[in-house]
Amino acid sequence: MAIVTGGAGGIGAAATARFVSEGAHVVVADIDEARAKEVADRHGDKAFACAFDAADNESVRALMDGTAARFGRIDVLYNNLAQLSEVAVTQDTTVVDTPFEVWNDLMAINAGSYFAACKFAIPHMLANGGGAIINTATGCALAGDVRRTSYGASKAAVVALTKYVATQYGKQGIRCNTIAPGLILTETLKRASPELLNLMSRHILTPRLGQPEDIAALAAFLASDESGYINGELIACDGGLLAHLPQTAEIEDLMNAQS
Ligand SMILES: NC(=O)c1ccc[n+]([C@@H]2O[C@H](COP(=O)([O-])OP(=O)(O)OC[C@H]3O[C@@H](n4cnc5c(N)ncnc54)[C@H](O)[C@@H]3O)[C@@H](O)[C@H]2O)c1
Repeated sequence: MAIVTGGAGGIGAAATARFVSEGAHVVVADIDEARAKEVADRHGDKAFACAFDAADNESVRALMDGTAARFGRIDVLYNNLAQLSEVAVTQDTTVVDTPFEVWNDLMAINAGSYFAACKFAIPHMLANGGGAIINTATGCALAGDVRRTSYGASKAAVVALTKYVATQYGKQGIRCNTIAPGLILTETLKRASPELLNLMSRHILTPRLGQPEDIAALAAFLASDESGYINGELIACDGGLLAHLPQTAEIEDLMNAQS
């Protein structure tokens, strides 16, 4: 039994489909109950929608306890949700200008809810001999940017949380790893300006941008026994965005101009 939080979103829906195709039963957990149901319904009796609010610890507890009570076990927890509301994206700017409320909200939902999910899921996993936890960061957690300070800091906390879970429960059969997605073309990002997408393409080493299925494939691997010897790791899935020096695209332009 796998739980995908933010399961109604772009990457969450793709992960649900991939997990089901690998034989798992999936709880599609999201604050958007209607969309969670829509995603779950695509998979008949293999997926179940569950409404919950990551901002409320008791709601996170109910998700974990309810899943374990109904299905007898939790094998996989994929912490995938994030606070990506309009306010969170537009008001999360520089250190000086970001309001405390925005910082607190992003830390609570992006980092705090992952802590709560681990805290309430791990006892159920231990009761069945272990499990796999996958947390979601972003490239913005690994390098600075001119805005979205709270988003980057909250996701960096997730990277550390992963290592603490792996360290504390690894010997008891729990593996915990982080995925750091790069630009992934969800329905939302497909609507981003062509200028932004072109700019990103310049800095990505693959000839195409990322798809939700790219992240779903990595999540399925990290959930499976195939990754049984990987624990506490962060794996970027970003087409090589962070694999090169920041000025590489400009150096390439310079060389092309000189040749
Ligand atoms: N798409 C990208 O380019 C990209 C890049 C880097 C990292 N990520 C990360 O990948 C993950 C998935 O992103 P996505 O692009 O699929 O986003 P998305 O907006 O499509 O999905 C996010 C889901 O989280 C749910 N959610 C938000 N707040 C919630 C709450 N309080 N309680 C329960 N559910 C809540 C939303 O309803 C939504 O369904 C996020 O953690 C995001 O930070 C995405």
